[in-house]
Amino acid sequence: MDLVNFENIMKMYCQDIVLDKVLAMDEKDRNRILRQCDFLDFSFLKALNDKESERGLIEPIRTMKLSEIEEKKDYFENIGIEAIKAGKVGALVLAGGMGTRLGSEHAKGMFDIGLTKPVYIFQRMFENMMDVVDKTGTWIPLFIMTSLFNDREIKEFLAEHKCFGYNPKYVKFFVQDMSPCVDTDGNILFSKPDEFAMSPNGNGGFYSSMMNAGLDEYAKENGIEYINVFAIDNVLQRIADPIFVGATIDSGCATGAKVVKKSDPGEKVGSICLEDGMPSVIEYYDMTEELLEQKDADGEPAYEYGVILNYLFRLKDMDSIARKEMPVHVVKKKVPYLEKSDSSPTGYILVKPDEPNAYKLETLTLDFVRMMGSCLPFEVIREREFAPIKNAMGVDSVQSARNMLLAIGYEL
Ligand code: UTP
Repeated sequence: MDLVNFENIMKMYCQDIVLDKVLAMDEKDRNRILRQCDFLDFSFLKALNDKESERGLIEPIRTMKLSEIEEKKDYFENIGIEAIKAGKVGALVLAGGMGTRLGSEHAKGMFDIGLTKPVYIFQRMFENMMDVVDKTGTWIPLFIMTSLFNDREIKEFLAEHKCFGYNPKYVKFFVQDMSPCVDTDGNILFSKPDEFAMSPNGNGGFYSSMMNAGLDEYAKENGIEYINVFAIDNVLQRIADPIFVGATIDSGCATGAKVVKKSDPGEKVGSICLEDGMPSVIEYYDMTEELLEQKDADGEPAYEYGVILNYLFRLKDMDSIARKEMPVHVVKKKVPYLEKSDSSPTGYILVKPDEPNAYKLETLTLDFVRMMGSCLPFEVIREREFAPIKNAMGVDSVQSARNMLLAIGYEL
């Protein structure tokens, strides 16, 4: 980015303090910052000034429940298998996250959850994919979204482990975009004297980053019509699950969303609902007491199903919304930052905070549910399909995921 452009952007987003710092730098440092700016999406800074948008009218949505799925299982499965065999279904793993809560220095997928032998999170993903490959005799094209921070190590790790037996011809990588991190006053932080603190721009950036890499075209040229988007950290999930694929296709909806019955009303997952008549996901922190207590016509909690970040999206519908502006979420997280220090020979120290201290700017995949216009919420059994690894200990942790794997007889 050239300096004039940079100055304009800094002024546009009220970054006067940051601009002064950069202008005061020597040319070498300033040029390094300008080179970094080519990778940063500053438009996300707009979200800092946006008023929090009011939620629309929230109402319950009909979910396809386990009993209904069981009744039509064979019918759905046949539709799904046919679509998979015809090469119409691809998979996309969101692996660009920083995994800060887990606290590993490497990409989350490289984390070893084994007890007596190595069992990597990526390995679990490929094993789960092999179930459907074995069932259908068809390799599912897999797109792996990485970030600037973990792209190289993920590629090296998967090359070293030969994609855990998955056919590498069907594996494609792309790197997601980055956004700047800001302090609580909205000023961009520095991670080095000549580098802004930055983070991947949230898992909702997957389609625009896929387009930037030309992989949407690749998908279409190869006949892919549906894409199963999922998080790397759920070690139990079914990928390109034929029953789910078949049910979504049969419903005619542009999106299918796997959901589980929440373990308690306040569980930290998004609740599937209607918002102003459109399918939507309401984040747990937006749920009011009133919504939590509301009952449906059968006397069940009205918002008892939570999303597990496993969606099937119809590609042709994604195209029409891909270039629309996605909501940017301002999320308070722990961000290491540079601080002046007289005691340090460089004049600076890198502070690694113990508590959330700054804002990251992220788009979220769950916002696609609303933007896509139609959605089939599809219930799955938690014990069989939802073992997310978010934390090192406690809820949604390495330990809880291990217990769930052991309970289904998986050797760790
Ligand atoms: P989370 O929101 O749980 O984030 O991501 P995380 O990075 O794994 O962990 P924390 O919050 O830093 O502790 C859910 C899924 O979205 C992916 C993650 O890799 C995970 O699969 N993700 C998240 C991305 O691919 N890119 C992002 O920018 C953020």
